[in-house]
Amino acid sequence: MKLQNYTDFLSETLIEPAALQKRVAELGAEISRDYADSDGTLILICILRGGVPFLVDLMRHITVPHMVDFMAVSSYGAGARESSGNARITMDMQTNIKDKHAILVEDIIDSGHTIASVLELLETRQPKSLRVCSLLDKSERREAVVPVHYCGFSIPNKFVFGYGLDLDEYYRNLPFIGVVDLEKYKPVK
Ligand code: IMP
Ligand code: MG
Repeated sequence: MKLQNYTDFLSETLIEPAALQKRVAELGAEISRDYADSDGTLILICILRGGVPFLVDLMRHITVPHMVDFMAVSSYGAGARESSGNARITMDMQTNIKDKHAILVEDIIDSGHTIASVLELLETRQPKSLRVCSLLDKSERREAVVPVHYCGFSIPNKFVFGYGLDLDEYYRNLPFIGVVDLEKYKPVK
């Protein structure tokens, strides 16, 4: 296996680590203010796997008591870079969210189909409230109507990686958001 170094296909760094950290801190402060009276009923639901670095940094800036849980959703067909509009829950969360204030924590909202399906499912579980917090919003590509209550950055219609976002499951560990040059990126396989 010969994995490329990201520098081989990075066309531009869209968001630097310091800018990410600053914005995540701001979102944490905003959520802390909005849920100041939630009295332990706040739960952050992280969408695996891309939302993990964002969740971990965000929760450290949330000063009100809260729980975290995880859900895995698959929306892409194997190898595809387009959402199928047919999201499937591949791993459900464990916590009962009835009467809790839930916030979905996602890496990016693209077509919106993934989040729209998850919201539809979670509404049936009767949370007290349900909001969406996404690090990135590629709104140009939106097909489903989704309310994004907390948005880190609006980004142009470009394929990005790093800080949770993957290219064929790799490069999630990078501390910045980079744009892929799809002519230079060669998936291993
Ligand atoms: P949606 O259903 O089209 O909104 O797709 C959202 C999911 O697609 C996200 O959770 C990501 O996993 C993935 N995705 C969308 N755009 C990108 C990208 O630019 N880089 C990496 N993953 C992406
Ligand atoms: Mg994702």
